[in-house]
Amino acid sequence: MEIIDLTEKYHSQYFCCLEDWSDEMKEAGNHKEVWFNKNKDKGLRVKIALEEEKVCGMIQYVPAEYSSIEGEDLYFIYCIWVHGYKKGVGNHQKKGIGKALLQAAENDIKAMNKKGVAAWGLALPFWMKASWFKKQGYQKIDRNGMAALMWKPFTEDALPPRWIKEKKRPQKTAGKVTVTSFINGWCPTQNIIHERAKRAAQEFGDAVDFQEIQTCDRAVLCDWGISDALFIDGKQVRTGPPLPIEKIRKKIRKRVRKLPRR
Ligand SMILES: CC(C)(COP(=O)(O)OP(=O)(O)OC[C@H]1O[C@@H](n2cnc3c(N)ncnc32)[C@H](O)[C@@H]1OP(=O)(O)O)[C@@H](O)C(=O)NCCC(=O)NCCS
Repeated sequence: MEIIDLTEKYHSQYFCCLEDWSDEMKEAGNHKEVWFNKNKDKGLRVKIALEEEKVCGMIQYVPAEYSSIEGEDLYFIYCIWVHGYKKGVGNHQKKGIGKALLQAAENDIKAMNKKGVAAWGLALPFWMKASWFKKQGYQKIDRNGMAALMWKPFTEDALPPRWIKEKKRPQKTAGKVTVTSFINGWCPTQNIIHERAKRAAQEFGDAVDFQEIQTCDRAVLCDWGISDALFIDGKQVRTGPPLPIEKIRKKIRKRVRKLPRR
């Protein structure tokens, strides 16, 4: 196994989270590629793990000032992923690859003279596990709903980071059902939900006002304090694990039926 910086040869694998076998991934659109191109000159770093020339793991991290946290001289890990499904390249978890990817990223961040690194983690036994980061020496420093913010300072004068938190909610458009989708682009799973919401909203024509809010623009992200989320008539919809389009459609239909007859 070797860890290398992402090269163009592996872009397509990286853009689909190493899941080129997944039909669901094909629904994600090109948002991740767009996000990558917008961030690659802003300090975005991606490392991949190769096993016999096949990508089996990845880690992506950006300077805090281009991420969902407030922090100074820090990097933020948006995602670490060691392929864990039988399909495609197969399950490579629990063989030390995650640890090696994180170590390579930390060494890289230290070499850039940054003061520390942050990452998000969940208390749930799937997705990004906070417990795994804890085992790698990270401490919990903040919380935003279910997402813990973990960090590892490298220097004594490193200042603790904070989540950027929700500042306002989308408003309802009079006489219509309002579907508001916040999309950042870094996460194909979120991108799938965005694309499904857009498709479902379009099916109801004029009765639905679909609003897309691009939070890859940091000023927009800070204005709302929301990175990726779906709202219907100002109420947040729980979207993980990826909500099927039928469920999104059903939620919209329920609201459309309550509209006054036109
Ligand atoms: C978390 C993850 C990166 C770890 O990578 P991995 O290659 O499976 O883990 P490693 O083999 O490197 O594990 C290293 C250590 O962590 C430990 N560990 C594994 N899972 C753990 C957990 N949930 N809690 C605590 N420790 C854990 C291992 O026992 C091992 O300990 P050791 O060093 O004492 O032997 C990987 O499992 C993964 O990708 N999970 C899904 C993450 C995800 O959802 N990413 C997408 C989010 S957008």
